[in-house]
Amino acid sequence: MTTSPTPSAETVTLRERGLNLLRSCSKHGQALENHCLRLARFTMALADKEGIAVDEDLTYAACYLHDIGLCVEDPTEKNYLKRGHQFALERTADWGLTEPQKKFLADVMLYSHSLAAVPHISAQGDLVRRAVSVEHSLGKMRHGLDAATCRAVFREFPRRGFNRVLLSFFRIAILDDGIKELVRVFFPSHNATV
Ligand SMILES: [Fe+2]
Repeated sequence: MTTSPTPSAETVTLRERGLNLLRSCSKHGQALENHCLRLARFTMALADKEGIAVDEDLTYAACYLHDIGLCVEDPTEKNYLKRGHQFALERTADWGLTEPQKKFLADVMLYSHSLAAVPHISAQGDLVRRAVSVEHSLGKMRHGLDAATCRAVFREFPRRGFNRVLLSFFRIAILDDGIKELVRVFFPSHNATV
C-alpha cells in the first residue's frame, strides 16, 4: 500500500489554507464555498479588466475567509466583519504574509460589504468589495464585466443552496448582532479601524 506524503507547510497554498479554515467553521458546505469561489472569480475578472495586479492565491484565501465572522462565535464582538477580521488575524499570523498582503486581507475582512466607496481601501481590496455587488445583484451590477463572463461564473459555481445560507447570515446579522452593527457593516467609513 502506498501513502501520499503529508504536504509540508511550504507546499500548502494560501488558497488551501483559507479553504481549510472555512471548512473548520462553516456548516454551509458547498453552497458557501461556491459563493466564495464566485467572489474570487469576479475579483480576478475585474482585476483583469482594469489592469490591476492581484495576488491570486491570497485573493482566493481572502474570499474563503470574507464571511467567516458569520460562521464563528465571539460574544465579545457584535460586528461580524470585526469578528471575522479578529479570527483571520489570529489564524493567519503564521502564514508569513507581507505588510501589503496583511493590508489586503484586512481590507477584505473589514470592508468587502461596504455599500459605499471606502477612502483608504487598497485597489485590490476594492475589487473584492465591488465583486460582492456583482455576486449579490446576480450580475445586474457588473462594474464593466460583460454579462457572458458573469453568467459563466454563476454556471461554473451554482448558487444552489445559497439562499438558505443568506437566510442564516441575515438572522445572525440582524437578530444576534443587531441593526446598529449591520449599518456599520454597510457604511463602515465612519468607524474605520485601519
Ligand atoms: Fe459573502
